[in-house]
Order: sequence, then C-alpha cells, then structure tokens
Amino acid sequence: MDGNGRWAQRQGMPRSYGHEAGAKALLRAIDAIDETDIEYVTFYAFSTDNNNRNNDEVGSILGIITYFLSEYVKPIISERNYRVRFIGEMRMLPEPLLDVINDINNLALNNKGKMLVFAIGYGGDYEVANAVNVIIKQKNMLLDDKPVTPEELKKALYTVNIPDPDAVLRYGGYKRLSNFMPLQTAYSELFFTDKLWPDFDKEDILKVIEEFAKIKRNFGGNNDNV
Ligand code: FPP
Repeated sequence: MDGNGRWAQRQGMPRSYGHEAGAKALLRAIDAIDETDIEYVTFYAFSTDNNNRNNDEVGSILGIITYFLSEYVKPIISERNYRVRFIGEMRMLPEPLLDVINDINNLALNNKGKMLVFAIGYGGDYEVANAVNVIIKQKNMLLDDKPVTPEELKKALYTVNIPDPDAVLRYGGYKRLSNFMPLQTAYSELFFTDKLWPDFDKEDILKVIEEFAKIKRNFGGNNDNV
C-alpha cells in the first residue's frame, strides 16, 4: 500500500494525513474484495524497515493502524465471518496495538469465511530467519540431523497454511517487492500501478482479476500438465 506520503504532500498536507487516507482506502479494499471470489488477501501495512522512519511518523502510522483496526476492522470480523492472521515481528509492536490484535484473533477464532492477513512489523528476511531458528530448535529436540527441506522451511514461515499469493499488486509507481514474502512470491504474478494507495478504487482489483485470468501459469514446468 505505497504512496500515502506523496498523496498527502501533493495536497500540502502532512504525511500522517496520507496514512489516514490509506487506512480508509484499506476499508474500501476489504469491501471490494468481499464482492469478488478472492479468498485470501494480505495487506502489507508496516514493514520492519518502515521502523527506521522518524519516531513521529512511526508513532503516527502505528497509531492509525491501531485506531482503524479497533474502530472499523474489529466490528466487521464477526459480522462477516472473516478469518484473520497477523504476520510479522509482534515483539516490535507497541502494547495497545498488540491488545487489538489479540482481541481480533480471539474474535475470529472459529470463523470460516475469507481470510484477511495483515502484515504489520513484517519483513521477509526476519520471517525466514525466524523459520530457520524454529527448525533448528525442533531438530535439536528431536535429535534429527537430516538436511532441512523446502517443505519444512515453508511450514515454519508465519504464512503456514496460507496459500502462496497468486498475485501481488503494488501501488505508488515502484516496481519492487520491498521484503514482502520473498519465498512465497516465487511464482506470484506481479502487478504495479502508478496510482497512489489512497486513490484505491474497486476497479483496480477487478482489472487485476481480469488480467490474471489471461495468464497461463506453469510454475516452472511446461504447460502440458497445467
Ligand atoms: C507506505 O507509503 C505506507 C505505509 C508505510 C503505511 C501504510 C499503512 C496504512 C495504509 C494503514 C493501514 C491500516 C490498517 C488498519 C492495517 P509511504 O509513506 O512510503 O508513501 P510514499 O512512498 O509516498 O512516501
């Protein structure tokens, strides 16, 4: 969800104004996804690298995320039966945000509907490092000295039991993934738009779905078996 800062600056407003508009755009995106067949969606809301911004901006982004989760996302979890996952370095997040995350996780425990994934305090490098540490611990406990397999590695990621993304859509004009799910996006179809995230419109997703449907995917094989 890139481009909040530029969106605000173009209007002569502080960056925090853009992040607030970005959070409103996220609510519109959830509504839009509700009207599609998309079963899993991940919103990359705050990266471990975003933590290097100045304290004021980090505080403002995390405050906005906490407020919108608690006031707008929490109430629709039960209403719409959403499953929810939060992925990232939870230990880096402030207490009030962790409290809302905990509340939402409890509310969604038995839900069966679409899955909303929020990547907050997320960095793909941290995720892989964490997975390696989890595996080392398990292997030590089980006295298992066999080499780690790709399947074991993927099962130790925060995204366990979440299918790899079919498609990634980045706003804001840059053509990069910025530490987003480096292993899981190996075969994702990548879409980039110059639009800034606060200008999100349902049409953006519909366009991606339409383009995606035209793509022949072979996951590294040939098309004979697909
Ligand atoms: C990147 O734009 C955006 C962020 C670092 C923050 C994104 C957060 C939200 C949209 C709020 C999400 C809300 C919930 C409830 C999860 P940027 O600041 O890098 O923009 P720029 O490239 O124009 O400077």
